[in-house]
Order: sequence, then C-alpha cells, then structure tokens
Amino acid sequence: MAEKKQAFVTGFPIKHSRSPLIHNYWLQRYGLSGSYKAIENSPENFQNFAKTLAEQGLSGGNVTIPHKETAFALCEKRDAAAEAIGAVNTLWIDAENKLNGGNTDAYGFAANLDAQLPDWDKDGKTALVLGAGGASRAVLYALLNRGFEKIIVVNRTVERAQALVDHFGSKIKAAGWDQAQSYVSSADVIVNTTSLGMSDHGEAEAFPLDFSEAKAGAVATDIVYIPLETPFLHQARQAGLHCVDGLGMLLHQAVPGFVHWFGVRPEVTDELRQLILDDILKS
Ligand code: ATR
Repeated sequence: MAEKKQAFVTGFPIKHSRSPLIHNYWLQRYGLSGSYKAIENSPENFQNFAKTLAEQGLSGGNVTIPHKETAFALCEKRDAAAEAIGAVNTLWIDAENKLNGGNTDAYGFAANLDAQLPDWDKDGKTALVLGAGGASRAVLYALLNRGFEKIIVVNRTVERAQALVDHFGSKIKAAGWDQAQSYVSSADVIVNTTSLGMSDHGEAEAFPLDFSEAKAGAVATDIVYIPLETPFLHQARQAGLHCVDGLGMLLHQAVPGFVHWFGVRPEVTDELRQLILDDILKS
C-alpha cells in the first residue's frame, strides 16, 4: 500500500487558517489518502518542529506568520522566489532528505490574475503597488518576472519602500502617500497590499485615492480578501477599473505545495472558492 502522506500548516496562532479546508478539499476530490492539518507552534518550538519533519512522519507543509523568515533561515535549499522575497511559506523534504523551502505567494498572485483576467499583463508594463511589507515583496517579484518596467511602491514609511528599491533594483521607485495620487493615471496595474480603508473594527472607510483618472482598461487587485470587496476595490470598481479580489491568490498559492506533498496538480475550482467564501461568511 502507498505510504499515506501527511502535510500541515503551521503558524502562531493557526486556528483561523483556511489552508486545511483547501487541501482537504483537494485530497477528497482526487481520492488521495493523505492528510493535511493545522499544527500550532510557538516561536520557541518552531525551529525544532521544522528540523524534525521526517521523524514526525510529515512530508512538508505551509508556514505562516510569524515563522516565514525563520523557515527561510532553516532551509537547506530554497527556490528562486523564496530567495528573492526573503521568506518561505512552503516546506518539503526532497529525495536527498534535505529541507527545502519555497515561496508560492508571487506564483499565487500572478496565477489569480491569469485566471480572472488573462491579459492583465499584456497591455502595459507600469504598476503602482501600495504598501511595502512582506506581501508587497511577493507582488514585486511577480511583477518583475512578468516584465514590468516601472513599478512605483507607495508606503507610509518611505524608508521601507526605499529598502525595496535597494533590494529589487532600479525598475522600482519609492514614494510616499503624498505622491500616490499623481501616479494613478499612468498605472496599468494597481495593487493594494495594505489594510488601508479598514477601521480598527474592520468597517469600511474611504480609501485615500481617487481612481477617476486611471487609464482606460487599468487593472486593480487587492491581496486582502476579507472583506472580498475591500474599500480599495470598491472605489476602483466604481471608477470602471477591471477588478480582481484577493481570494484567488490564497487558493492559487496553495497549488505548488499540494504538488510537492501529494504529487497531483490540483485545480482551483469555483466550488473550492465557494467553500472558502462560505467559511468566511460563517466566521
Ligand atoms: P504584510 O506582510 O501583509 O505586507 P506588513 O509587513 O505588516 O504586512 O505590512 C503592512 C503594510 O500596510 C505596510 O506597507 C504598512 O505601512 P508601513 O510600512 O508604513 O507600516 C501598510 N499599512 C498598514 N496600516 C496602514 C495605515 N493605517 N496607513 C498606511 N499604511 C498602512
């Protein structure tokens, strides 16, 4: 009988993760005998956990906040995306028994746009990216890979945007929010990676940009998916931009991990999207 593969998602806390729903949906759909479960690890425990996956019978798994940078440091091998982004969200053990780390966020970002708006990267190569945190790094890596020539990163703390220029090179430009509006009209793709426009209680407030002068055909996408229609997307949609919500990025970033652990390339279906949406609505 084939060995039953076991995978996990770990973070601290981890109980709100929707990754088990995604991977267990696929395991069932493809009739595979593996398992995927949430395992909480405090920062003190994580290192020992990650170094002893094989002893625990685990084939690999996903890593989320706050362990992505520690996972990066622990891996014996890393893929190009993880190297560029500086964080690991997917672990697997290779044929030589080495701990490998990958970052699938950039893949998930681009694959979501490919699925929802197939020509999103064909009509122009200028992007405006709002935010300069960890998610922004994955977005920049994806955009550079797709040949974007000019990417303005706007951030409240301009030094963090400048650090991304230093890291990713001269196609990136750093700016503060006082300049953000002036870049809207030249952007082909506008990406929000911040929680701006949400109150501390999660209620929607106005997003501080006016999209009425955006290019015809410009694309707006958010990496936040709760709520599905963020204040950023709401305003962009009202101004006529092509909008893509962030839920698909969560679903698509899960695909490469599943391939590593279970050997099947799973499909992101409408049924899966609805399953996660229903779960979000329940919470
Ligand atoms: P993530 O990994 O999701 O990107 P992060 O590293 O905490 O999370 O980054 C959050 C991003 O949202 C940052 O760009 C942050 O701006 P700062 O670097 O200046 O902190 C941005 N952000 C969060 N709340 C914000 C607010 N109220 N106004 C402006 N920017 C905000």
